[in-house]
This record gives sequence, C-alpha cells and structure tokens, in this order.
Amino acid sequence: MSTLQGSAGFHAQIKGTVRWLAGAPCLALQMPEGIAPEPNMVSGRYFLARCKDEVDGEPTDWGLYLRRPLYAVQQREDEWLLHLPPDEDPGHGWLRRRAEGAPVHLLGPFGNGFSFPTAGRNLLLLADLTDNPGWLALLLALMEPMLDRGGRVTLLLRTNAPLDEVALSHLPIAVEVQTAPDESAWERGLSSSLLWADQICAGLPSSRYNSLAQLIQAKRFRLEEGFCQVLVQADILCGVGACLACVIPTANGGITRACTHGPVFDLTRLAL
Ligand code: FES
Repeated sequence: MSTLQGSAGFHAQIKGTVRWLAGAPCLALQMPEGIAPEPNMVSGRYFLARCKDEVDGEPTDWGLYLRRPLYAVQQREDEWLLHLPPDEDPGHGWLRRRAEGAPVHLLGPFGNGFSFPTAGRNLLLLADLTDNPGWLALLLALMEPMLDRGGRVTLLLRTNAPLDEVALSHLPIAVEVQTAPDESAWERGLSSSLLWADQICAGLPSSRYNSLAQLIQAKRFRLEEGFCQVLVQADILCGVGACLACVIPTANGGITRACTHGPVFDLTRLAL
C-alpha cells in the first residue's frame, strides 16, 4: 500500500453527508489517486485529519491544532469511509459539519493494520460494543477479503442490545453473527468458537486481553503468535513515534508505541 506519510500530506474531499455503517458514523472522503492502490485490508489503518479551515495551505487559527486520528472502515477504489466517533470532540464536530466537496487535509495512511494469509481460514471476529459501539465497523473490512479467500467468518458481539436490521444489512450474508447479551453468554460464545477458529481479529478493551489469552490457553493449550490480533485504543497524536502519547504496556513489562508498532498488535505482545 502506498502512503504519503512523512510528506506534507494531501487534501481529500468530503463526499455527501456522514454515513452510518454497521452502527457507526463514517466520514466519506474522495482521496487523491494513489493513496492505496491495493484494495482491502484497511482495517486498523488510520489517517490524521487537520480540523481547521485553511487559507493558502495554513490553518486559519490554531485553536484545534491537534490532528484527529480517523480509522478506516471501508475502501472502494479512491473512496474511503473513516470512522467519525459520535462524541462531543470539537474536531470531530468540525468534520461532521463539512459540506459536500469541502477539503480535509490528511496525513497517512498510518499504522499496521490487521493481516491474514492468502489462504481461506476460519476467522473469528470479536467486538465488545459495550466498550465502543464503533468496534464492529472497524472490523467490517476484514469480512469480504476472508470470504473471497474461501474462508469462513464468525462474528461474536458483546452487546446489551440486539443489532438493528440496518447494521446487520451491512454485513456479508455469509457471516455468522452471534450476540452475547451478558458476560456468561460471552464466555460461552468464546469457549465454543475457540477450537473452530484458525485466527482471531478483535476490537476489545485492554481489560479483556488477559482473560482472552487465558481462555485461549485453556482451550488450545497455548497462545501462538499469529493466532489473535487486537486493535488497541490509544491516544494517537503525532502518528510518527515522536510524542509518546500513545504508549501502551507490553506483556514483558515494557512499553510500545501504538501509532507506529500498532495499532494492531499480536495478543502475545500485550497479554500476560
Ligand atoms: S502518537 Fe506520538 S508517539 Fe505515538
């Protein structure tokens, strides 16, 4: 995948209004040619967006000087959908109010996203929507590539409410969806899926990493590298490893920078 990271960045254009995909609001952007000539596998990658108007390439004021990280949800040729959290953040609010065709200055794409081999496998996707309703959208772009490889996909959701029909309609029909309305159902769903799965990709809070690793060890005897990848939540500011705002603890007692070494990590690096 090509990238403009390290350069002065580029302008993308807003396409339409905010779209909802798999229960999450997304900003649709028309990217310049050449941002990502390879389709798919964009899950886990992110851009840094400037959230201010510009005159002659410079922001009109520096009140919102920090760029906001926007994670990829979907890429279709030069159109990308980036997750725009529905919160009170003034930067996100500024992006939400951009009109059709308005420019947004971006750096990226950054980060190591999810990966899996070219052969089809049994892929288990885990998303805790009680932690972040956007997790499902952030895993969405993994489904079709695995189905295209001849693999199978099961999605296990921890959610207090059933998925609505609109959100379900954004999932490929071949994906098996299981929902866990409480913790015991979550444990049961995990236990019954772990022996079936060849690989796990997860959007979970860090508080679940150790228990997931322990359950994998209990069911499969060991947690092998490459079996489970997680997309971590971190405070990404610079995106290039310079500010240390995004550091997270590792299993060996150290720390690592999520912006450059992640934000997708192998679970063996993070769980005890
Ligand atoms: S965001 Fe600055 S070091 Fe990671």
